[in-house]
Formats: sequence, structure tokens, C-alpha cells
Amino acid sequence: MRDYPLYLAPMEDVTDPAFRALCKRYGADRVYTEFVNADALVRDIASTTRKLTIHDAERPVAIQIYGREPEAMADAARIVEQAHPDFIDINFGCPVKKVAGKGAGAGLLRDVPKMMAITRAVVDAVHTPVTVKTRLGWDEPSLYLPDGTPFIVDLAERLQDLGIRELAIHGRTRSQMYRGEADWTLIGAVKNNPRMRIPIIGNGDVCTPERAKECFDRYGVDAIMIGRATFGAPWLFAEMKGLPAPKTMAEKVAVLKEHVLASIVWCGNDERKGIIHSRRHFAASPVFKGLPDFKQTRIALLRAETVEEVFRIMDYIVDTYA
Ligand SMILES: Cc1cc2nc3c(=O)[nH]c(=O)nc-3n(C[C@H](O)[C@H](O)[C@H](O)COP(=O)(O)O)c2cc1C
Repeated sequence: MRDYPLYLAPMEDVTDPAFRALCKRYGADRVYTEFVNADALVRDIASTTRKLTIHDAERPVAIQIYGREPEAMADAARIVEQAHPDFIDINFGCPVKKVAGKGAGAGLLRDVPKMMAITRAVVDAVHTPVTVKTRLGWDEPSLYLPDGTPFIVDLAERLQDLGIRELAIHGRTRSQMYRGEADWTLIGAVKNNPRMRIPIIGNGDVCTPERAKECFDRYGVDAIMIGRATFGAPWLFAEMKGLPAPKTMAEKVAVLKEHVLASIVWCGNDERKGIIHSRRHFAASPVFKGLPDFKQTRIALLRAETVEEVFRIMDYIVDTYA
């Protein structure tokens, strides 16, 4: 039977070892670190090198780097290789101004020669398989080349020629940021280009098992990468794969509590910091969506600063709504 690999997308401040471990437990076939700044790695900034922390239990794991200069990216890749990830992923997709505006991340979609130089430098610098994650293009007008070929179809071939092993494509342009809907037809065009040999990973707006299946079947991608839908729901992978997953609210809340405790450990056993770090997950968790008269409880949950308080509120929610 056909395999349907599901990967946890790289997400800044989200895909730390604590969250990756939970996603892995619930069936993620590959996890990614958040993006790691190449210059900061080269300068040996402690808060950055910490992001290279990976554990054997989460393998296969990719460490993602971003930067704008080939030499710095090659040096960073060599440093990353010492952490022994299964893949080194290059970020050519980050749209935020402080990254793309400075010519890194998605900014390289406007400077393809530089993107090629970076890719070549990184591939040449390491033995670890190098992968790339990018977007469809810089903006709507640049989605197609003058001869009608989709920009991303041409780009994918060129990246493949440089020796990358896999390509992940988020079906949006840089200009779209996270707005609008991801366009999977262009991801499908890359996958169906007979010249493509490397696996193509599709990404963007996959939130349900039905949508995941549809993307695999309709666009033929080799894997799907899932980002935001995993917030407060690391069991999503298991649900999509039909594996055992927490079903009741109590079971799900137990996983969220475990995540809070693991976040605290990741934040150096700083209780307050760990709770603030995991708040994004409570705020977005499907467990707490659509509950009647929930506003005040939600506010209290997002304000709580001790484990005792967070757990007490979570228990109250289970007692009240389950
Ligand atoms: C909070 C947040 C942080 C992100 N950080 C990264 C990152 O570090 N590297 C990266 O390649 N993409 C990053 N992304 C983009 C995601 O990997 C993914 O491409 C995007 O969210 C679309 O997938 P989704 O619709 O499944 O969320 C980030 C997205 C979010 C929401």
C-alpha cells in the first residue's frame, strides 16, 4: 500500500524538542527544528547553538538554517553537521521583513543566482543530505516565466541539479505571507514534471485527514508537511494516519499538560517561561474551540503563570465540558 508520510513543519519558537517529541510519538514521520540563523551560528551565539539540540528518539530530524551569504551558510552547515541531523534543510521561504527584506529566506526568490550559489555552497560543504523548503515565488506577477513555465517548476529543476535530496514547497508566494489559500496546483505541477526525480513535499493549509488524503491523491506529492494545525494538537498525525490517538477531552488535556511540563524543562526549568512558551498551543488548541461561555476561562488560562494554576483551570474545563 502507498505510504503517506507526514512531516512536522519547521516553526520558529514552536518546533522545539519538547513539541517535536510529542509529534513524533503521535506518528510524525519527520520533524524539523525551527530555522537557525547562519551568522549567529558562525558567531557561536549560545541562544542559537541551543537550537541545534536534537535527540535520537525524534529521528529522522532536519535542522533548518537560513542566511544570505553562501560562505556563511556553508560554514553554518558544517557546524550543524556536527549535531548529526538526518537532513540539513535550507530555508528559502520565510516571508517576514527582518528575514526576506534582508535577502535571506523568501528574499532569495528574487535573486535566484544567489539562491543557487547558497545551495551549491551548502551541498558542497557537508555529507549530510541537504533539502530545501521554499514558496511558489516572490509574488503573483512572478509566478510564471515569460515562456509560460511556472517559476517554481523551473526553480525545482535547478535545485535538483545542484544535488538537493528533497524539496518542500509551501503553496503561497512571499507577498501572500500567510494570507489567502495555499495553491496546491503549482505544487502538483512540480511533482508531475517528468524531469523531477527527488521527492516533493507539499505544504500549506492541510488541517484534516480528509484534506491530507486529497492532497496526496490529487497532487501525487511524496510527503505532506503540516504546520499550524498541529498547535495544541500533536496527535493530529495519528488522527490522519488512523493510529491510536487521544480521543476524549480528558485524554487530550493530559497531553497538553505533558507538553507544558516538557516546555518548562526546555526553558531551563523556568516555570513561568515554559508556560508562556506553551501558551500559543493552549490558545490555538482544537480542544478549547467552540466551548460555550468559555471566554473568561480562556482568559484565565492564557494568563496563568504557574503549573498549579494552569492545571487547575484545565481540570475545571474537563469537569465542566467533558
Ligand atoms: C509561528 C510560525 C513559525 C514559522 N517558522 C518557520 C521556520 O522557522 N521555517 C520555515 O521554513 N517555515 C516556518 N513557518 C512556515 C511553516 O513551516 C509552514 O510553511 C506554513 O505555516 C504553512 O503550513 P501550514 O498551513 O500547515 O501552517 C512558520 C510558520 C508559523 C505559523
